[in-house]
Amino acid sequence: MSKELKVKHIACIGAGYVGGPTMAVIAQKCPDIKVTVVDMNEQRIAAWNDANLDNLPIYEPGLAEVVAEARNRNLFFSTDVDGAIAAADMIFISVNTPTKTYGIGKGMAADLKYVELCARQIARVATSDKIVVEKSTLPVRTAQSIRTILDAENKGLQFQVLSNPEFLAEGTAVQDLHQPDRVLIGGGQDQAGQAAVQALVDIYARWVDRERIITTNVWSSELSKLTANAFLAQRVSSINAISALCEKSGADVDEIARAIGKDSRIGPKFLKASVGFGGSCFQKDILNLVYIARSYGLTEVADYWEQVIKMNDYQKRRFAENIVSKLFNTVSGKKIAILGWAFKKDTNDTRESAAIYVADYLLNEQAELWVYDPKVKAEQVYADLDYLNTRSEAENRRLVKVVNDPYQAMDDAHAVAILTEWDEFKTYDWQKVYEGMKKPAFLFDGRNVVSSPALLGLGFKYIGIGHCVS
Ligand code: UDX
Ligand code: ADP
Repeated sequence: MSKELKVKHIACIGAGYVGGPTMAVIAQKCPDIKVTVVDMNEQRIAAWNDANLDNLPIYEPGLAEVVAEARNRNLFFSTDVDGAIAAADMIFISVNTPTKTYGIGKGMAADLKYVELCARQIARVATSDKIVVEKSTLPVRTAQSIRTILDAENKGLQFQVLSNPEFLAEGTAVQDLHQPDRVLIGGGQDQAGQAAVQALVDIYARWVDRERIITTNVWSSELSKLTANAFLAQRVSSINAISALCEKSGADVDEIARAIGKDSRIGPKFLKASVGFGGSCFQKDILNLVYIARSYGLTEVADYWEQVIKMNDYQKRRFAENIVSKLFNTVSGKKIAILGWAFKKDTNDTRESAAIYVADYLLNEQAELWVYDPKVKAEQVYADLDYLNTRSEAENRRLVKVVNDPYQAMDDAHAVAILTEWDEFKTYDWQKVYEGMKKPAFLFDGRNVVSSPALLGLGFKYIGIGHCVS
């Protein structure tokens, strides 16, 4: 491989929540580089190519505009994985790495089968040197396995493996990609490794200040991603632990967050108490971290991080239990409106959303649920419940209605439970909602989004997180 590398053609395997937006922004910022995003899921690729930008497979504020600018200029979406691999000089692996559901490490370790398949496919198809970039979040030392698979074909080609974890948060993905706090690139320390690192640095440097582009060895980069997510999730579990104490003691968790957040060592962000964190990363990455620590015999380290997950499970369960106990210890046959199904606002992603677990708990208590979410489709709600395998698919459809009108969901309900912090919930005509509900009308606010004094005056029995006003 020559010392100076200039990338002309990028391929990205995996057109998901990370691969899609990330490549769209790279293509937008680098019009001279051809970017091809490939996925074996035909439906997903068709949606990325849909002329109607409302039909993109991912909802993210600002994403449609970026896609509109770059698509079919230098950004392409395709199912031809082999073709894209063959043509590219840099290949991002951005496939899913879910928690294993079988075998050794079941329920804890990351399932790397999709990553391994990609590495094997690259090794098989490649006829020229490639820089392979790990974009998916991976356990520390995965680059070693990828490298071994790539080199095993013995074709006399040069492969470099870089780690470039993505730190975007869903709902703010485009903004995070345009103005990242930092870009992290890990690579080999030899000359060829450093040339590959530089090639990727040069791409990001088109729009990111060089001081914000951090280069490290591969292992530090891989482990930094797991560490960042573990620290962020830990903050949410920490404030959620305090929220339980607030509800017993009369303190207010939002006031506490404001007070401690002023300490510049603590900082104000990520201190919002909630019904529990969700998303595809936090739980999966911490479980992975715990698994790695245990496999190195670091029991105390593993137990320490595992507590973050236990606290999150406790918070979701506590919220659901509270609904049942406040509704006079039974929700059987009672209509309950669920506002919000996504794991956070401004995304249609529902992976590990607290809503799924709260709903499942209430369904076990025979509640009748009416679900409204501005961006999540009915099929997704049913798929999430079916995946749990708690009851039959027919039963889920009998007990859960998904509607497009929030007022219909809340009409004649015994209780409303807010599970995602969508902005529109703040602007509802809560007086009208109150009048239409059964009395006493309970409002369980799992995100503390509608706790305005005006609302409290309407007569609701309002139960937020970390403070109790009724
Ligand atoms: C996270 C990381 O932030 C991101 O850097 C990484 O690349 C992927 O994982 P994401 O899961 O998309 O991003 O969203 P994030 O904003 O981190 O929220 C995760 C969960 O924590 C959501 O359910 C959110 O509602 C919850 N949360 C977050 C809180 O409950 N309180 C907070 O103060 C912050
Ligand atoms: P993330 O949130 O990390 O982006 P997603 O699950 O949204 O994860 O996206 C991962 C994508 O990777 C899916 O669309 C899946 O079809 C795709 N994928 C997984 N393995 C392969 C493969 N070997 N070849 C092509 N696409 C793949």
